[in-house]
Amino acid sequence: MPGQPKYQVHVAPSLLSADFLHLEAEIRKCEAEQSGVLHCDVMDGHFVPNLTFGPPIIKRIRENTSLELDVHLMIEAPERSLESYAEAGANAITVHAEVSPHLHRTLSRIRELGCRAGVALNPSTPASAVEHVLGVADLVLVMSVNPGFGGQAFLPLALEKLATLRLWQQSKGDFMISVDGGVDPQTAPSVVEAGAERLVAGSALFRGDFKSNIAALRRSAGC
Ligand code: DX5
Ligand code: ZN
Repeated sequence: MPGQPKYQVHVAPSLLSADFLHLEAEIRKCEAEQSGVLHCDVMDGHFVPNLTFGPPIIKRIRENTSLELDVHLMIEAPERSLESYAEAGANAITVHAEVSPHLHRTLSRIRELGCRAGVALNPSTPASAVEHVLGVADLVLVMSVNPGFGGQAFLPLALEKLATLRLWQQSKGDFMISVDGGVDPQTAPSVVEAGAERLVAGSALFRGDFKSNIAALRRSAGC
């Protein structure tokens, strides 16, 4: 175990696997189980081969819940629309390292807008891609699937990256370590062991009974 977590380990439900026709009811399930946070996946059909939702939907969610909105931008040129997501009510905005050549500027701008600044790494992107910007990051999101879809199988290559970030957490910045993709009761123990503090989960929670699913996931993660 590479050191103790800096942040309390917790589960972040990902709205991507919720029933979009009944979003309010799905959000209430998260509140009832005190998730504290809601992970919102924004996709543009370019950076990833799928489309979801944008600022107007996030704004309506913001108006109807006090859950932390953890907005994961899977979009090209995210620096062009940071203001829109901040105005919509995002608490944290995460951009992908692969589409952010001026990552230091982009993360700093997210903080200026009053949001927590996150940076995400695709499975093929090394941890070193963010090493020099950890001082301006509040969150590092390790993708454990290729982004774009829910319900994919967990890629164990994420574990080494999580462990590297846990080591760097001691010396290079005060950021939370998050993991996203294929997190379920089978894979959760290994991601927590490696260093993840925020466990983003979609299909493991929203497919079937949310209450018993989140209880099982929390149990397996020891949180
Ligand atoms: C995938 C998204 C994830 C997605 C995870 O591109 O970033 O947040 O909801 O879904 P599961 O938990 O089903 O792998
Ligand atoms: Zn996500």
